[in-house]
This record gives sequence, C-alpha cells and structure tokens, in this order.
Amino acid sequence: MSIIISHVVALSNNNVIGVDNKLPWNLKTDLKHFKNYTTDKILLMGRKTFESIGKPLPNRINYVVSTTMSEIEGAEVFKSTQDALDAANKKCANDSNYNEIVIIGGGYLFRDTLGITNKLVLTNVDCDIDGDVFYPDINLNDWQERNSENFSKDAENDYDFTVKVLERI
Ligand SMILES: NC(=O)c1ccc[n+]([C@@H]2O[C@H](COP(=O)([O-])OP(=O)(O)OC[C@H]3O[C@@H](n4cnc5c(N)ncnc54)[C@H](OP(=O)(O)O)[C@@H]3O)[C@@H](O)[C@H]2O)c1
Repeated sequence: MSIIISHVVALSNNNVIGVDNKLPWNLKTDLKHFKNYTTDKILLMGRKTFESIGKPLPNRINYVVSTTMSEIEGAEVFKSTQDALDAANKKCANDSNYNEIVIIGGGYLFRDTLGITNKLVLTNVDCDIDGDVFYPDINLNDWQERNSENFSKDAENDYDFTVKVLERI
C-alpha cells in the first residue's frame, strides 16, 4: 500500500495558523477531530509546535524536527525534516500498522513538506485575524475535495469552521 503523507492544519480565511506560539482560537470540536484523525499514526512536528503542545501526544508516534533539542522523553528528535521523513517512511515499510505520516505543523514544517503531501486535512476557520505564522497558499487546481463537513460556532467553538479533506490530483 502506498504511504500517505498528509497535513492536518486549522487555518483562518487569511491563512493564519498561530500567534505567540499558540493557536489563535478555541475550537474544542476541532481538537477532537485532530485527536481522532491523528491517533495511531506517525506525527511530524517542528520544535515550536512541540513546545506549544507541551508534551508528546499519547497513542501516536511523535517525531520532532529540531537542531537545538537533542532528546525528548516519549518523542524522537531529528536534525532535519528529511531525516524525520526517512525514519517515518522506514517505520511504515517495516510495520504494517502504519501507512500515514501526518505533518502537524507549524509554519516551517508545512512549507518544507507541502510539495510532497498527497492529502490535506484542512480546518477552514471562518475568521480573518492577526497572527505571526501562516499556512502557505495552495493551488486548488492540484487538489480534489473528497469530503467537507461544517461546524457552527457555539460555547465551545469560537468560530464557524469547515473540515475538508483534499487529495492530490
Ligand atoms: N493551526 C494549526 O493547525 C497549527 C498547527 C501547528 C502549529 N500551529 C502554530 O504554529 C506556531 C508554531 O509554528 P512555527 O512555524 O513558529 O514553528 P514550527 O514549524 O513548529 O517549529 C520551528 C522549529 O522547528 C525546527 N525546524 C523546522 N524546520 C526545520 C528544518 N528544515 N531543519 C531543522 N529544524 C527545523 C526548528 O527548531 P530549532 O530551532 O530547535 O532548530 C525551528 O525553529 C504556533 O503558534 C502553533 O500554535 C498551528
């Protein structure tokens, strides 16, 4: 089976994904979706995203890309995105429980890997906001929408949002 390399990301209408090393919103339902989608998969993340989450995510393989950290309990650290991808591909080749590498951010990792992804799981958050980390522009001609689900703002979710699954054409 061919390996899926995906991005899972929540972005505003103006492509903001982060501010002050945090998420710019509270979207409890989207966090549940993130947990469901990523559980039992291999996750790749940048050092700042790891720090912003604060701990390795349970029931997932956590690979962190960093040149400044050498060891993290419960995660593996790689000096480059390519090293992390190589290790993740090897894990998928050797263990049939794994066939998807999920890149979960942040801006550096998303920019580095957009060209090699074959699936995007986007949470389009219906707001225009200030931020300091952005998701790159995607060319919609390269992607086909496979699924889309709308969620409404409520007491636990700051904005309306839509979760979309796109596959590379
Ligand atoms: N909305 C979302 O879905 C979402 C998802 C994830 C994160 N975020 C937000 O995004 C922000 C963090 O993103 P960010 O772009 O600032 O940082 P990031 O991509 O999470 O981490 C950047 C760090 O990762 C390491 N790194 C990245 N690319 C590397 C490479 N090619 N080679 C070696 N090391 C590399 C470096 O660590 P060293 O400095 O240690 O070398 C770099 O400083 C936060 O605000 C977070 O909340 C949002």
